[in-house]
Amino acid sequence: MSQHLPKDDQPPAAAGMRKGLTSYGDEGFSLFLRKAFIKGAGYTDAALDRPVIGIASTGSAYNPCHGNAPALLEALKRGIMLAGGLPMEFPTISLHESFASPTSMYLRNLMAMDTEEMVRAQPMDAVVLIGGCDKTVPAQLMGAASAGLPAVMLITGSMLTGSHRSVRVGACTDCRRYWARFRAQDVDEQEIAQVNDQLVASVGTCSVMGTASTMACISEALGMTVPGGASPPAVTADRMRVAEESGRIAVQAARQRLTIDRILTPHAFENAMRVLLAIGGSTNAIVHLTAMAGRMGLEIDLQALDRMGRETPVLLDLKPSGDHYMEDFHHAGGMATLLRELKPLLHLDALTVTGRTLGEELQAARPAFSQDVVRPFGDPIYPQGGIAVLRGNLAPGGAIIKQSAASPALMEHEGRAVVFEDAGDLAARIDDPDLDVRADDVLVLKRIGPKGHPGMPEAGALPMPMKLARQGVKDMLRISDGRMSGTAFGTVVLHVTPEAAVGGPLAWVRNGDRIRLSVSKRELSLLVTAEELAARQQAAPVVEPSAERGYRKLFLENVTQADKGVDFAFLVPKSTGQRIPDFK
Ligand code: FES
Repeated sequence: MSQHLPKDDQPPAAAGMRKGLTSYGDEGFSLFLRKAFIKGAGYTDAALDRPVIGIASTGSAYNPCHGNAPALLEALKRGIMLAGGLPMEFPTISLHESFASPTSMYLRNLMAMDTEEMVRAQPMDAVVLIGGCDKTVPAQLMGAASAGLPAVMLITGSMLTGSHRSVRVGACTDCRRYWARFRAQDVDEQEIAQVNDQLVASVGTCSVMGTASTMACISEALGMTVPGGASPPAVTADRMRVAEESGRIAVQAARQRLTIDRILTPHAFENAMRVLLAIGGSTNAIVHLTAMAGRMGLEIDLQALDRMGRETPVLLDLKPSGDHYMEDFHHAGGMATLLRELKPLLHLDALTVTGRTLGEELQAARPAFSQDVVRPFGDPIYPQGGIAVLRGNLAPGGAIIKQSAASPALMEHEGRAVVFEDAGDLAARIDDPDLDVRADDVLVLKRIGPKGHPGMPEAGALPMPMKLARQGVKDMLRISDGRMSGTAFGTVVLHVTPEAAVGGPLAWVRNGDRIRLSVSKRELSLLVTAEELAARQQAAPVVEPSAERGYRKLFLENVTQADKGVDFAFLVPKSTGQRIPDFK
């Protein structure tokens, strides 16, 4: 047994079915009643005396990214029972990117609340969280962090890639690539329908380094999955073995009371940030990591993250920053291969759900072999971390750019603003043949931030205006207070904070203003004087969006800005004052 665990692994007095009794004013009666009901489902006293492992199950007909949930559940329950535990599956909200309106991000905090409260309310000694699609993993980790029990993250795994006319394709970088070609009339209606059949070749999460793959890698880097838990595709035997092993580890964590606060430490978050930069991961992960750290009373320091990025190259050659797909990463050894290259930059003392440290797990991993998906540290695919943090009078609270997926020619750029006031304005005018726009202009989209278009949609990668797309223009500098999909690419500045809807400077940008981006200087400037901006503000003050009732009201009244993780303020505990990374 690991030296890092408490010697006393006896179950606490209130464990298993005795935990969290329903309030009837008589504890004996409460337990008697609970057992009577569960016995109605055929359980014996012997089964009910075992450590109870809750399974937060997110299988849903509306979520094909979790389409392997039945097989995962079977393997996971096998692992729990072989280790002497009692699996208890329960449903929570499930979110798929394409089946959640207005956006899955709007519902992430609701899913986190659902997860937290059901883990807290029901008797269990540990929980296994089955998640995969973009917002599910952060929601579950946020909820589990607040609930405080031992927890293990079981990733559903990536989809397989398909083939269109002998070209390998996968969601969703290729979805965007083909759609852009269709808009440019380079692909006809028949071909776009054919490629639609091939982009998603099986159940599972998007096959590139989008948000789902990023959060899978981050979960393993945090120590929240079993070793090798990030990369196996959804429909493989390796994925089922990960599920069985997750069951065994959950029972062990329950017996050893290895609570989540011992895993989600500042060192674990620093490791996750290194991995995010080195995999060319999704910009969304910064928001999610900030929210997850916030649940532990920790603050992500964006400036320090940027400094970290300057010494952390992109090593993973996966779309959209590189060429390969998740299944190739798995064949290349998955996270063990990547973490080995990053070893000098990692905190190897960080504890994982196995009860062993990251360093111990790396030592125990299969030996390295020759492969071409994870580059050596000295020969990266991009010399710096994938994400740079920008500041300037247009984004006093910061903004970010995924530099590894941007056009080098636009990284130092000054141009004329072409402004869209909101998503509706964009939809109405972007394809207008009379739109006054040139290839060297800067497209600005307002009011798609956390409050402006509740849920901060992934609309930041604005499409090329039709008339420019047909001239062959593939990229322009684009700026917004929204997010973009991890599968997207281009020179796109995101998460401008504060957002336009709460009166950030973005609200006052006008057509024809000059905007300057300098990624080398980390600068995002609106070349308009402070006096002029103040005058514009006074002439048309911003009225923040509001709602009469329901979840929308809760959301609008409590959601924080991007630099705070877009969490609900009332779900975040008092800060410990500790900032990560802790760069001295
Ligand atoms: Fe679920 Fe991409 S839509 S991971």
